[in-house]
Amino acid sequence: MTTILGTKYPLIQGALAQISLPPLVAAVSNAGGLGVLTTTNMDVPALEAAIAAVRAQTDKPFGVNLMLQQANMAEIVPYLITHPVPVVTTSAGTPKAFCQAIQAAGTKVVAVIPSVKVAVKMAALGVDALVAEGMESGGHIGTETTFSLVQQVTAAVDLPVFAAGGIADAAGVAAAKALGAVGVQVGTAFLVATETPIAQAYKDAVIAATDTGTVVTGLALHDAVRSLKNPLTTAYLEAEAAGADADSLHGMLDGSLTRAINGDIAHGTLMAGQIAGKLTGVAPVSAIVARLFPED
Ligand SMILES: Cc1cc2nc3c(=O)[nH]c(=O)nc-3n(C[C@H](O)[C@H](O)[C@H](O)COP(=O)(O)O)c2cc1C
Repeated sequence: MTTILGTKYPLIQGALAQISLPPLVAAVSNAGGLGVLTTTNMDVPALEAAIAAVRAQTDKPFGVNLMLQQANMAEIVPYLITHPVPVVTTSAGTPKAFCQAIQAAGTKVVAVIPSVKVAVKMAALGVDALVAEGMESGGHIGTETTFSLVQQVTAAVDLPVFAAGGIADAAGVAAAKALGAVGVQVGTAFLVATETPIAQAYKDAVIAATDTGTVVTGLALHDAVRSLKNPLTTAYLEAEAAGADADSLHGMLDGSLTRAINGDIAHGTLMAGQIAGKLTGVAPVSAIVARLFPED
């Protein structure tokens, strides 16, 4: 599988909206994984500059994430067809409209999927690999657990599968491989990397979290998101239980990831997964990768 991604380790740094910017992406790629650039809120000039910054810091393969619900997709996808990158990861939708064009440009397409049904659809589409992402993950999530999902996806499709959700060290990598995965995608553990451009208060909150420290918001909006429990999630869940309308619920969440990134840990959405409870401190990307793959 490492030959498909061209990386030393079967490791994908999961895209982190607004967060996985060039310093983190290049550090992961230099450490032997696949750094993946977020495209959230980027127009083409911003994406072009970010890709140039990654290339200036590493000659290793990297990826660009297309979160297909983002408003900028119609602008960014044509750019990536004419200016190919090594890997594109897709999430929250199907890359059907552009998958072949991206692959024809020489880019590998890796689809993040939440169920066997979607995995089978993506295999029929001809993507190069899958990330089976369980609901332990931070950020936008599906409904199935990593443990149950990964082994059913690997049994159902003849494609390399990376496991995501709840993986932060060698124990998680070994478990993923036991379930039939070729490798892992990791998000939450990279939130607390030295190179990750978020406020120290956000990192401290992730480190302080226990196993029960996360909660899911957005169920009533059909947009489930896992984040750390805080005054915002408490207020949101109270409003949801009281039957607040979609507009006011959206109003509570809009812009809240940006607030978290800027250090407002009470009123921001501190997206993070259940494995946060296992993270004990900030460390350089190289140390986080060494914890995942200590033998090599
Ligand atoms: C803060 C944060 C932001 C995320 N943003 C995205 C995103 O923009 N696109 C995407 O495909 N996945 C996103 N994810 C999911 C990760 O890429 C990855 O699949 C997930 O974090 C893996 O589970 P883990 O958190 O248990 O490691 C995000 C996760 C977090 C924690």
